[in-house]
Amino acid sequence: MDLFSFIQTPEHDELLQLRQQLEEANYRYYVLSQPTLSDREFDDKMRRLQELEAQHPEWDDPASPTHHVGSDLSAKNGFRQMAHRYPMLSLANTYSEQEIQDWYERVCRELGQDTASGNTGVEIVCELKYDGLSIALWYENGVLTHALTRGDGTRGDDVIQNIKTIPSVPWQVDKQTLEIRGEVLLPWTSFDKINHEREAQEEPLFANPRNAASGTLKLQDPKVVAARGLDIYLYYVLGEDLPGNTHYERLQYARECGFPVSDAIRVCRNIGEIMAFINYWGTARRDLPVATDGIVLKVNSLAQQQTLGYTAKTPRWAIAYKFPAERQLTRLRKITYQVGRTGVITPVANLDPIQLSGTVVQRATLHNEDFIRSLDLHEGDDVWVEKGGEIIPKIVAVEPRQTESGMPTEEFRFPDVCPECGTPLVRDPEQAAWRCPNETGCPPQLKGRIEHFVSRKAMNIEGLGVETIDLFFEKGLLRDIADIYRLRVEDIMRLDGFQQRSAQNIIDGIEASKQVPWSRVLFALGIRMVGETTAKKLARVFPSVDRLAAASSEQLVATEDVGPLIAEGIRAWFDNEDNLLIVQRLKEAGLCLQADEDAAAVQSDLLQGRSIVISGTFVHHSRDEYKDLIAAHGGKNTGSVSKKTSFILAGDNMGPEKRRKAEELGVELITEDQFLQMIAQ
Ligand code: IVH
Repeated sequence: MDLFSFIQTPEHDELLQLRQQLEEANYRYYVLSQPTLSDREFDDKMRRLQELEAQHPEWDDPASPTHHVGSDLSAKNGFRQMAHRYPMLSLANTYSEQEIQDWYERVCRELGQDTASGNTGVEIVCELKYDGLSIALWYENGVLTHALTRGDGTRGDDVIQNIKTIPSVPWQVDKQTLEIRGEVLLPWTSFDKINHEREAQEEPLFANPRNAASGTLKLQDPKVVAARGLDIYLYYVLGEDLPGNTHYERLQYARECGFPVSDAIRVCRNIGEIMAFINYWGTARRDLPVATDGIVLKVNSLAQQQTLGYTAKTPRWAIAYKFPAERQLTRLRKITYQVGRTGVITPVANLDPIQLSGTVVQRATLHNEDFIRSLDLHEGDDVWVEKGGEIIPKIVAVEPRQTESGMPTEEFRFPDVCPECGTPLVRDPEQAAWRCPNETGCPPQLKGRIEHFVSRKAMNIEGLGVETIDLFFEKGLLRDIADIYRLRVEDIMRLDGFQQRSAQNIIDGIEASKQVPWSRVLFALGIRMVGETTAKKLARVFPSVDRLAAASSEQLVATEDVGPLIAEGIRAWFDNEDNLLIVQRLKEAGLCLQADEDAAAVQSDLLQGRSIVISGTFVHHSRDEYKDLIAAHGGKNTGSVSKKTSFILAGDNMGPEKRRKAEELGVELITEDQFLQMIAQ
């Protein structure tokens, strides 16, 4: 909390407001190149702020815009993850009027209201269901401090710099502390424009505005984000002591505060009114500037919401109605084939472009050979394509074929060699998929394995995204996962678009990954069918890579969750010479290829005599893993902050009490990355 936030004089308020306005102006000017203040206005405000700070030295703040120049630095590579204050739940979906009626009656029954005659005492707020990405905006004493994506529902990425590019998002709203949730969207016009540009650049097109919005929100450069033109609709307010006893009142309040809240909201008092809303927007939504995929119904009274409560995943007081999928007839021009990271070949239908649910569709997945045969599809057929809320278009039926000559069409044949590397394909008898067996030479497989290896749940190497991997692969810097540990700042800096800092960030991320525990390294290796959970179980039974590599199929099958197929996959992986070489190189690079117990054994005395408090939530390791690491380096983990505390290992959302105590006693806070660097020495 700002030390001076209890000072409430008009002058102090003015000072805070000026700092905020100048910060915002700097950001819009330097980062987005979209100034909102004239130079004159900016200078006048800056002068007034300097004047106030000179008159009140006690209000000085090193972070004030008077002390630093505007910066064009975008957020650091990768986003900061934070825990949600309230879990970000989803909504139960329904697809028919009957289901809506059933839900409404159930709600009324549970609230002890009779639906038999006319209006009930249960008001339902009907809203549009926006088809974008959910976002949670946090305002602390009126200031926008974080903007978290849904993430896994418990933790999300803080994409505040990108959210700040949306002109309708207020950076400051009076004095409230609240969370407001909504949907980030890319309007149809922006979406079409971007795809147009991508087409001209021969870049892959975004399938729909939601994907485009999601890609945009994860971009590292807010200037590019700003140019894309995101929009936002807010629909859910959370917080203590807010005005209003109903959802509707809260939304009105949010609108009055300056938040962008849609007008397409109606309080309905019976099922007839609900259905009228659904029917009206079923058609009218086609004229909206953004994508919608249904209607959301919410019990209006907050007290009634509380009575109804939640299931594990969704509120009982709200439900979504999804609009039916749209269907159209078009011609299947050609079938092409894509190679995935595990070598699976997916056939793709290339269609005559059609307009479907607001987007141009020209491709659809055909899943596998059996799917094509079951529909008896051939190039040149007229096919029915459907696109539901789940935006990937599907071919659902084929029109009877009329061959001019009356002769039967030539039989469909799946290719027998890999379209990327020419290796003969194989098909497991029990599986519908054809695979390219060239695991160590087929480019999409090689790149896919690297992408999996660096992914968040595996080695979590920030900075090595799909595009960077593509580039490094093309430039010959990366061919397999062990090459990652040979990368050097100088090599990266030689490539276009990288500077010392961004190159160093990548190398730091790679260094930090050497602390990732054995079970996750095992998952990262990408052995077929060895997912996160199986990897954990295997790592417990086989506490080192050598023990696992030496295990027989019988020993493997004895592990919980490991059946003969998985065991065979593991054996095949370790029987491959190339993989053994990779393991050897990973060992030499210093990765944890043995279990925590061993890792927990004394590794150094770097933290000897140090008393360390752990607080907050972490990205790279769990709290228990940090406890083990502290012990492994001779340190002592203690629960509460005292004079004797050497430092606090501080994650996100550190407890306020610990923070206060640390400030009072002058105890240093060490971030997760600093700590990992400390022990890496
Ligand atoms: S309310 C606890 N209202 O749909 C209630 N969600 O399929 C939280 N969505 O996760 C959600 N429009 O991302 C709500 N008017 C609206 C919405 C909406 C779109 C999204 C939201 C949610 C998803 C569930």
